[in-house]
Amino acid sequence: MIKVTAPAKINLFLDILGRLENGFHSLFMVMQSVDLCDEITLAKGNGGISLTCSDARLPQDGRNIAYKAAAAFFEATGIEPNAVITIEKKIPFEAGLAGGSADAAAVIVGLNELYDTNLSTQTMCDIGLKVGSDVPFCIEGGTCIAQNRGEVLSRVKPLKDCFIVLAKPEKGVSTAAAFAAADNSYIYHPDSIRMLDACSNGDFEGICKYAGNVFEQVIEVVERVSIKETMRNFGSVLYQMSGSGPTVFGIFNTKEEAENCAAELKKDYKDVFVTRPVDSGAKVI
Ligand code: C5P
Repeated sequence: MIKVTAPAKINLFLDILGRLENGFHSLFMVMQSVDLCDEITLAKGNGGISLTCSDARLPQDGRNIAYKAAAAFFEATGIEPNAVITIEKKIPFEAGLAGGSADAAAVIVGLNELYDTNLSTQTMCDIGLKVGSDVPFCIEGGTCIAQNRGEVLSRVKPLKDCFIVLAKPEKGVSTAAAFAAADNSYIYHPDSIRMLDACSNGDFEGICKYAGNVFEQVIEVVERVSIKETMRNFGSVLYQMSGSGPTVFGIFNTKEEAENCAAELKKDYKDVFVTRPVDSGAKVI
């Protein structure tokens, strides 16, 4: 039996540059893994793929992205499908935290170990991209520039150790709807060159200064203003929506500030977490 941790991600930067021929969008993102993790258990069973998930609201069959990842792994390797997948869910879904992609990444990394297939990270990322644009990053993890669909990854200096509060308003956001909204809007583009410069220097202040997420221009999350205000009042140095939302994250220099802010946000929101940056993606434990 194999156990794999699947860390969530936040977007320190997200810009939509245009439309690709395959219908996806060309992106420029800075992604960061955080230590809020799902836990995936993998074992060989009696043939076929079976999946159970601790959260009954998620599909437990071929519609689940983790199931699709297993199918893609077996197809790519030519191995007869045989996997029993159990997912212990901690990452909220439809949250902008890549919860599903993290599980898919963990399944591929875990099956590579279970079946001793010795696939390179690149090969696992290629398999992952077949089921979701964020899966390659969730395999690689850490602090990365992600381009094109999100699969062209370049590692940059790890984010300095800090405390990242995540607060998810109740209502989820559909990523497809968010991209459609962006297609129908004029977008002001944040300064990706200065952000890239800050990331390559490991310049924390620059990262906070040049961070941005264009989905904030097209996705209305009513709670965002008040969550950001609370984060600012408790000393956050950067507060921003992650991905297509609705989760808002706030970065703090001290644990005390982060915990005080989280305690305040917990009065209004169920899904509030104090996390820290981690430097890897899905990992066998
Ligand atoms: O690849 P994934 O399943 O995560 O994509 C979810 C939705 O976001 C899809 O509707 C896809 O078209 C859109 N998307 C996009 N461009 C990307 C990534 C996702 O248009 N680079």
